[in-house]
Amino acid sequence: MNANASQLLELRLAAIRFAAQDINVYVFERGDGGELPPFEAGSHVDLHLGNGTVRQYSLCNDPAVRDRYEIAVLRQPTGRGGSKAWHELARCDATYRVSRPRNHFRLVDDRASFLLLAGGIGITPLLSMVHDLERRSAPYTLHYCARSEERVAFRKELDRAAVHGKVVFHLDQGPDANPLDLAGLLAHQNVGEHVYCCGPQPFIDAAAQASRDWREGFFHVECFTPVVPAPTPAPAAGSLASADAGGFTVALARSGRKVFVADGVSIAHALQVQGVNVPTSCEQGICGMCQVTYLEGTPEHHDMVLLDDEREQYLMACCARSRTPELVLDL
Ligand code: FES
Repeated sequence: MNANASQLLELRLAAIRFAAQDINVYVFERGDGGELPPFEAGSHVDLHLGNGTVRQYSLCNDPAVRDRYEIAVLRQPTGRGGSKAWHELARCDATYRVSRPRNHFRLVDDRASFLLLAGGIGITPLLSMVHDLERRSAPYTLHYCARSEERVAFRKELDRAAVHGKVVFHLDQGPDANPLDLAGLLAHQNVGEHVYCCGPQPFIDAAAQASRDWREGFFHVECFTPVVPAPTPAPAAGSLASADAGGFTVALARSGRKVFVADGVSIAHALQVQGVNVPTSCEQGICGMCQVTYLEGTPEHHDMVLLDDEREQYLMACCARSRTPELVLDL
């Protein structure tokens, strides 16, 4: 998928459900109730909030249910405003622009076993994985950490799997407090076991640290804020120059235009200034919205979403630089 393929869907907000303290579920459907583009467990969408703000949310419903996308939003009073806007302004029957689903948090093949680690609202992509793994009859265990019982979302859905020992709840507070011992849990890797982890930054950091001795490629994280350690650290804003000190040129294969990208300016911004539409959201290489196909040249990747094989074909225009004087883009 590239920037040109990110056509937006116009979807109706069909329902809003209370899921837990400060967490609501929002259900989007087509106006005619028909099927939506398919998605895989772990996918997310970009939601356009109507005031120019775009936010990424994981889809939490069963991917086999084709007539809806469901997201869960935690109200974060100290956040960037997206969650507050949803909780206060979202109205049933209103139409919202929603991207097609993208997936940078994909479950590996069927033969693996899965250890799912959710911290707080990080349960959302893992819930869709639970649906998927249940259907595949794949072995998994979900550890779901929440501050208190009131903040456990999707309790009824997860209780079914909990009965069979596949879901373990960990509460930080209250008489039944039983915080998760991440270091103990991840001290040893079972053969073929993959970890999928989503939650607040400290939770992800702790899990990454605890699994540092695991075989490479078996620890997967989903985050919408930068995670440490990063595969390739993104340069700080205003200091984008690296191998391309002095700037470089991007050539647009379809129009034949050339645009100079100066030091400290992203490819996306340089193109936007020239009227070329490259959608962006996080501008930190973590949401995947600005993905572009390149045809020639050698990019220097600074994102945290592309896999190694995808880097042979795509770059993230908000943070990639160039190791060659020119990059040719499929734009
Ligand atoms: Fe999010 Fe580029 S805008 S990865």
